[in-house]
Amino acid sequence: MKKVLCVFFVFFCAFSAFGQENQGIKAIVNHYAARNFVAGTVSRSDLDQIIQAGVKAPSASNRQPWRFTVVQDQALAKQIVSNIVDGNVLIVISAAGDGKTNAREILDCALAAENIYLAAQTLGYGSRIYTGPMDALNRNLKGDLGLPVEHSAVVLVRVGRVQAVDAVSAASARKNASDVTVYK
Ligand SMILES: Cc1cc2nc3c(=O)[nH]c(=O)nc-3n(C[C@H](O)[C@H](O)[C@H](O)COP(=O)(O)O)c2cc1C
Repeated sequence: MKKVLCVFFVFFCAFSAFGQENQGIKAIVNHYAARNFVAGTVSRSDLDQIIQAGVKAPSASNRQPWRFTVVQDQALAKQIVSNIVDGNVLIVISAAGDGKTNAREILDCALAAENIYLAAQTLGYGSRIYTGPMDALNRNLKGDLGLPVEHSAVVLVRVGRVQAVDAVSAASARKNASDVTVYK
């Protein structure tokens, strides 16, 4: 009887592990760029966790060149992203340089942006990465944002409330891994 129970237990463990997706991979592959934000706040403690995810991003020679400017002021946020929804927060990531030719800093900021983007979704928020508003921001709003004079904004992540995923917000199709991957 003991033997039977043991065999049953081993099979039970094997089958319950089988088919369970790794949680980290799941968070990465299930993300989507939110379009349909709804009004609602992003709590300070969640923001702190989201920023912490950015702070933990890898960077070349661990230089951590970034600065995170968290824009909660709705009037200022609206000047950056015109279709802002009440409660949206913009996390502007800047680094020393012109934001166009400082390739190493741009890459580092991009990695921090991805961490922030995914962390927000892991906490149940919608998020979206933007580079479109960077030129206007760097031309007109660096002072309002209090960016260090030698910095330019590289990318921002918008974080806010979303309703349950709908067909518009759900991620668009990606290329097949086999079409963009070569194993040598
Ligand atoms: C570097 C970068 C810049 C982006 N800039 C903008 C932007 O300026 N405006 C915008 O609406 N979306 C922007 N996006 C969002 C992309 O359009 C979106 O991530 C992509 O279409 C995939 O969306 P999906 O994951 O929902 O399918 C940007 C994304 C990245 C990674």
